[in-house]
Amino acid sequence: EKGGFKHFMLKEIMEQPVALENCMRGRVKQLVGPPDNQFTLLQRLQVLLSLEREILTSFQSAKRIIICACGTSWHAGLVGEYMLESLCKIPVEIEYASEFRYRSVVLRPDEDIVMVISQSGETADTLAALRHAKQAGCLVIGICNTVGSTIARETDGGIYLHAGPEIGVASTKAFTAQVLVLAMLALRIAQGRTIPDDEYKMLVKELSKLPSRITKILSENEAKICEIAKVYRYAHHCLFLGRGYNYPVALEGALKMKEISYIHAEGYPAAEMKHGPIALIDNLMPVVFIAMQDSIYDKVKSNIMEVRARKGCVIAITDEGNTELESLCEYVIHIPKVSECVSPILTVVPLQLLSYHIAVMRGCDVDMPRNLAKSVTTE
Ligand code: F6R
Repeated sequence: EKGGFKHFMLKEIMEQPVALENCMRGRVKQLVGPPDNQFTLLQRLQVLLSLEREILTSFQSAKRIIICACGTSWHAGLVGEYMLESLCKIPVEIEYASEFRYRSVVLRPDEDIVMVISQSGETADTLAALRHAKQAGCLVIGICNTVGSTIARETDGGIYLHAGPEIGVASTKAFTAQVLVLAMLALRIAQGRTIPDDEYKMLVKELSKLPSRITKILSENEAKICEIAKVYRYAHHCLFLGRGYNYPVALEGALKMKEISYIHAEGYPAAEMKHGPIALIDNLMPVVFIAMQDSIYDKVKSNIMEVRARKGCVIAITDEGNTELESLCEYVIHIPKVSECVSPILTVVPLQLLSYHIAVMRGCDVDMPRNLAKSVTTE
């Protein structure tokens, strides 16, 4: 049942290319046939989500989207906030489901859409947030993996991940599939409205290439990641830093490390480091940077130099072909170049593998970390 892998978590990391293919099946389409008058080039490559027209129209006219989720799903939601704001120009709030219900959020049923994200579809806090939003009269849309789960049944409409069952307690393929669904949704809402056609087309093409790019990351980096894991497996603390679209990935990298290896880890927006966490850095502290060559790369590079100046050990994730970080970092992991807004789907993969290998080397029960359950059905 583990398909020859030692743990479900490793199996689920490795099957991400297939999970993402399944997630896009029938949704990201390259229409075949000769280019003729019937299909313009734009129509030949597009995202078709089977959202009811009414729901799509509601998204397009929404004044605000509020996303509620917990844990890893919350991190995916944070990427979703950035995407929906940037591609669709709709204001978005991301809320911890557990907080949303217990504070006085202003909900305006005719203006706000509430979106809940849950792999299991059974998380008590997320379910409570969904019921709270429905009671207030809002349209509630779900993004779930488990077909027929309570959250999937109680929402007004939604999108399934189709990533296949996730058994390992640490969420991996659900995160990448959630971000992918959010990207497809944002593109569907934005198409012909808030992004230029050529950008739309370019991004849809990027989505279709993600599975093969993940396969490449997995096959090219495992040995190096094992080596890094061996060096840092006894660390007591670890810092994950990223900016923009990769700030949520820093949070996710830290969560994975904490939950399965029991190493204290924190994720921060890289520039916030100097407002406190920089005090923690010494020569025993591994600092993992997501430093893709995107719009904010130069700033991240100067953050790396700041850590370096305090003798921190830097591990960086960057683009293929970028050699200038080698002199500043202990280790550099190269991954394929990709558009900024979908980069979290790739940058998170080495972090999943890193926490997996460190946890195994520390003798931890990777699939069943202490004190944790796969689906948290109590508040
Ligand atoms: C982390 C993890 C948890 C879940 C959280 C929400 O690896 O698995 O943080 O993401 O409990 O679960 P779902 O998505 O099922 O609502």
